Amino acid sequence: MIQVGVIGTGFIGPAHIEALRRTGMVEVVALCDVSDEAAQAKAAELNIPHGYGSVEQLLAHPGLQVVHNCTPNHLHAAINRQIIAAGKHVFSEKPLSMTPEEARELVTLAEQSGVIHGLSFVYRQFAMVQQAASMVRNGSVGRIFSTQGGYLQDWMLLETDYNWRVDAALGGRSRALADIGSHWCDTLQFVTGRRIVEVMADLSVVWPTRKASVGGGQTFTGGQTAQRFEDKAVTTEDRGAVLLRFDDGSKGSFTVSQVSAGRKNQLTFEVNGSDCSLGWDQEVPQRLWIGHRQQPNQWLSDDPGLLNPDVADRAHFPGGHIEGWPDAFKNMMIQFYRAVATGKMPATGQASFASFHDGADAMYIVDAIVESHQQQRWITVAR
Ligand SMILES: NC(=O)c1ccc[n+]([C@@H]2O[C@H](COP(=O)([O-])OP(=O)(O)OC[C@H]3O[C@@H](n4cnc5c(N)ncnc54)[C@H](O)[C@@H]3O)[C@@H](O)[C@H]2O)c1
Repeated sequence: MIQVGVIGTGFIGPAHIEALRRTGMVEVVALCDVSDEAAQAKAAELNIPHGYGSVEQLLAHPGLQVVHNCTPNHLHAAINRQIIAAGKHVFSEKPLSMTPEEARELVTLAEQSGVIHGLSFVYRQFAMVQQAASMVRNGSVGRIFSTQGGYLQDWMLLETDYNWRVDAALGGRSRALADIGSHWCDTLQFVTGRRIVEVMADLSVVWPTRKASVGGGQTFTGGQTAQRFEDKAVTTEDRGAVLLRFDDGSKGSFTVSQVSAGRKNQLTFEVNGSDCSLGWDQEVPQRLWIGHRQQPNQWLSDDPGLLNPDVADRAHFPGGHIEGWPDAFKNMMIQFYRAVATGKMPATGQASFASFHDGADAMYIVDAIVESHQQQRWITVAR
């Protein structure tokens, strides 16, 4: 079994651990969090043998082969550097870093060190997203004219919703676009095989001041029980709309929001091609809509027997046994650990899992989006 350590045990760390356990290839032997006490309590809760209060201690754990970085954004670059310097394979949460410069540096470090490097863009791992990408690849969609969609959530709707992501020093200078818009861009670039080359963005902050509960809060905890609040100035966007130009000349657009009441985690996309359209909604993940002009439209379901052979193994159960977000996470870990087992990154273009290259690419797009909003003009993505 491959020996793994996980740094950061808030919302997403335990999701990694659950997915890792479902691969059957991996043993999570150690956790790391802000103190020995916190790490050991979480390790006991999740039945993991060791808990460490510092990254250095975790990296010194005997026999450790792979480390997952599940910490808040501002720590990603430094911890990713440490993991690579220790010669361990690295699987990082997004964003890869806080700035495009750091992203470039991390890609170089990962490539030079020869470690396997993965980035947690999970939405490309859904069976029906893989099917959409396969249909584009095999020509079923024809020439792509247009791509549109969005990613809407409501967990930042209220003035009293607050999280470290709001603070630019901890989350980065972009919030909604970096946090969830990056997922949308990665998914659409994966499905279409096209690169976003120019962007025109209009972003907004709907709560210029938010009320943070004294004592802080974890991600997606919902509701507010705290009695005392402090005012926090907000510079990071709650929503945004972006026009896109792709490298094949096709166009697109998407909307991102963390303040859309009733929308929980609704990543949607539609691809319009000369032969058909494809549409997908993450909240109904087992269905792919295929739109036609001259015959009735279709809903394809995630039955492995109905999927294209090159992606059928991404659905693990018979059709109708609905697979969703945790299953996409499992797919992502299976792809990554196959590469760890062979010691080789997948060939470029195969895109079995997102790498540091893809993580850096999303950073460059989000950076261009912020520049576009600030300068109120089209900006070329600097890669
Ligand atoms: N891929 C996805 O779909 C997805 C979904 C959610 C979150 N994320 C990403 O995961 C990351 C973490 O988000 P979250 O929602 O789990 O945050 P969170 O605040 O719930 O958890 C962060 C954890 O990191 C720990 N931590 C903080 N500083 C640390 C340090 N110096 N050393 C070790 N541990 C430390 C915290 O104590 C906490 O346990 C973010 O970068 C976010 O963008 C990705």
